[in-house]
Amino acid sequence: MRLLQQKILQEGKVLSDSVLKVDSFLNHQVDPILMKEIGKEFANRFKEVPVTKILTIESSGIAPSVMAGLYMDVPVIFARKRKSLTLTENLLTSSVYSFTKNESNEISVSNNFLQENDHVLIIDDFLANGEAAQGLINIVKQAGANVSGIGIVIEKAFQDGGEKLRLQGYKVESLARIQSLANKQVTFIREREE
Ligand code: G4P
Ligand code: NA
Ligand code: NA
Repeated sequence: MRLLQQKILQEGKVLSDSVLKVDSFLNHQVDPILMKEIGKEFANRFKEVPVTKILTIESSGIAPSVMAGLYMDVPVIFARKRKSLTLTENLLTSSVYSFTKNESNEISVSNNFLQENDHVLIIDDFLANGEAAQGLINIVKQAGANVSGIGIVIEKAFQDGGEKLRLQGYKVESLARIQSLANKQVTFIREREE
């Protein structure tokens, strides 16, 4: 997605060979105009598969997911990372391992919002090693629902999450695919038609 690539080049900061900071439009401050275009793009890329719900994870997955939900006319659920005061019953939970923090965290979703007949589009801001996506897939499976696909805003293609998910047969659509962050530079994978 050209607009997103331009934004990354203009405002992204390469912190190391593996970490890209995009605080000015995605992870801290949010650019609603860009999010709107991202939502439209997800709706377009998944228009041929059935989707009844979008599932993401707090906090940075929420903005792009809500915009996609608006265009696709489906509700958006976000998995919680912390225990909630009111979210205490009928929880579907999954453990998500963080490589950067070297620890596992529980994520949870109420089973009130996921049914067996749901077709779920999973959306997240970043795809690195794919642990968060695997946790969300696990939750969809616990509900007996179906995964329609996985939509990612920024995929770090030099890490293996995307490959693992595609090998499992999932339709993974990433709006920006980064080949390398070496030498403080963002290099994208060439897309077929952009
Ligand atoms: P890992 O797979 O690379 O080990 O990442 P980890 O699970 O530890 O992810 C930790 C957080 O960092 C996640 O967000 C993830 O989306 C994000 N992340 C991973 N790689 C990058 C990157 O290159 N740049 C940025 N900006 N974020 C990255 P989170 O903690 O769930 O935060 P949030 O969703 O509340 O913002
Ligand atoms: Na994040
Ligand atoms: Na995230």
